[in-house]
Amino acid sequence: MEVIICPDAEAVARTAADLFATYITRDTCTLGLATGSTPVATYKELIRRYEAGELSFKNHQAFLLDEYVGLDRDHEQSYYRTIRRELTSHIDIDDNRVHSPNGMSENPSEAGRAYDDAIKEAGGIDLQLLGIGTDGHIGFNEPGSSLVSRTRLKTLHPQTIKDNARFFGSPEDVPIHVLTQGLGTISEARHLLLLATGEGKAQAIADTVEGPVAAVCPASILQLHPHATVIVDEAAASKLKLARYYRYAYDNKPEWQQIQKA
Ligand code: PGA
Repeated sequence: MEVIICPDAEAVARTAADLFATYITRDTCTLGLATGSTPVATYKELIRRYEAGELSFKNHQAFLLDEYVGLDRDHEQSYYRTIRRELTSHIDIDDNRVHSPNGMSENPSEAGRAYDDAIKEAGGIDLQLLGIGTDGHIGFNEPGSSLVSRTRLKTLHPQTIKDNARFFGSPEDVPIHVLTQGLGTISEARHLLLLATGEGKAQAIADTVEGPVAAVCPASILQLHPHATVIVDEAAASKLKLARYYRYAYDNKPEWQQIQKA
């Protein structure tokens, strides 16, 4: 696993955008997008580079990690709407090629299978962006999720509902159920990119990078992935025992292994 420790959240966003750019400058690519607060700064940086004429998303497609069950996709807090508001309506990606699980399906199991099939048909995801919950979840795979799970219905942990209440007004308004890519689905992406900022994520990052691979910390599956990059700020890195080594290893990488700016 590649761990990159940046001085602050802005540097995390710039470094993540640099990594994104290595994919976006390809002829075509399939991006895995995440919602939540953490990726917003990276999306802003990507929009800035698009507006500056440095990047085009015209030939690319994207899949979201998850969606609330029972929220109409036009609801302001649906992830369908959120990703458009935060990224895709500001760039030149074809809106019909921005996919999300169907949270309004009467048959969530079938909707989950259909979503996995759509990812497969698209040729798989090249770069999957991930945030992390304070409880170590990725997507909405809460602690206890099967490490090989597929896209399916999950019940949110009360802590996640509390964490997300800020987007809804009150915890009672946060849907309890979601459709999320499974840990097995996420693991099939060719490159995983996990971002975390702030002290509140420090324990989850320590468990992810240095704890055992275990369902109690779903993000720990990154340890089993052949190409996983974790970009964190100082605060989120503050509980990493091997932080000094990660810095040393990153600073001394051969140039061809470093993230190249587009
Ligand atoms: P956040 O959420 O980026 O809003 O902290 C991350 C997550 O819950 O996956």
